[in-house]
Amino acid sequence: MPRHVAIIMDGNGRWARQQGKPRQAGHKAGAESVRAVIEESVTAGIEVLTLFAFSSENWSRPEKEVSFLMDLFLRALTREVKLLQEQGIRFRVIGNRSNLSSKLVDTIVAAEKRTAGNSGMVLQLAVSYGGRWDIVQAAQKTARLVADGQLSADDIDENSFSQQLSFSDLPEVDLFIRTGGELRISNFILWQAAYAEFYFSDTLWPDFSADSLRLALNDYANRERRFGRTSEQLGVKNAKA
Ligand code: IPE
Ligand code: IPE
Ligand code: MG
Repeated sequence: MPRHVAIIMDGNGRWARQQGKPRQAGHKAGAESVRAVIEESVTAGIEVLTLFAFSSENWSRPEKEVSFLMDLFLRALTREVKLLQEQGIRFRVIGNRSNLSSKLVDTIVAAEKRTAGNSGMVLQLAVSYGGRWDIVQAAQKTARLVADGQLSADDIDENSFSQQLSFSDLPEVDLFIRTGGELRISNFILWQAAYAEFYFSDTLWPDFSADSLRLALNDYANRERRFGRTSEQLGVKNAKA
């Protein structure tokens, strides 16, 4: 079982087109899938679920679609926070907040505060998030530590650098899922996906169900994660354990 699952929720627009509906209807239907996938993740005992909802690049979409999505996040969060709280879920948002409206930021901060003490699954929503943005903001923070004399340039290594990335306090991403059939990362977690197992599903996000997630988890269960070692080495290690 993966400890941390990250999902690119893609295919809302195509789902809507298939139904002869506007893209907005696809985003609304996609919000329903989010609920189903959260429930199933809790049931499956996943510790961290990270959902890619809006990328740095999605700001380039038509203004009407962007504002619809921002409004959808605001309404969904306002509506769902009570449910998250009841389920003991710890909610967080990762991404560049400087682009978000102050009303949305306030709602996010309130939801994070309200659920901060929970000990159940961590739910992270990536909004206005880009993997490159994350690496650059970590570089800025690292540079500030050096400028302040708290870190020497020679002490910058993978460990100290990665501590400045988003969600460095959480377990590594084990399973990286993309729905909607595209075979790309689209600037989602880059550094943090270094050793994730990838799973691409043709299912469009609004059709992605608890069963779809279970299929992905079963697929993951059959992977051999070698982290650069050989199968034989893993065999020895497993035999010793
Ligand atoms: C994913 O679905 C949702 C967001 C990126 C906000 P899309 O809107 O990208 O759907 P397609 O890829 O056009 O079908
Ligand atoms: C990635 O999907 C972003 C999210 C699902 C939030 P996109 O639909 O924006 O990705 P591209 O543009 O097809 O690469
Ligand atoms: Mg898309």
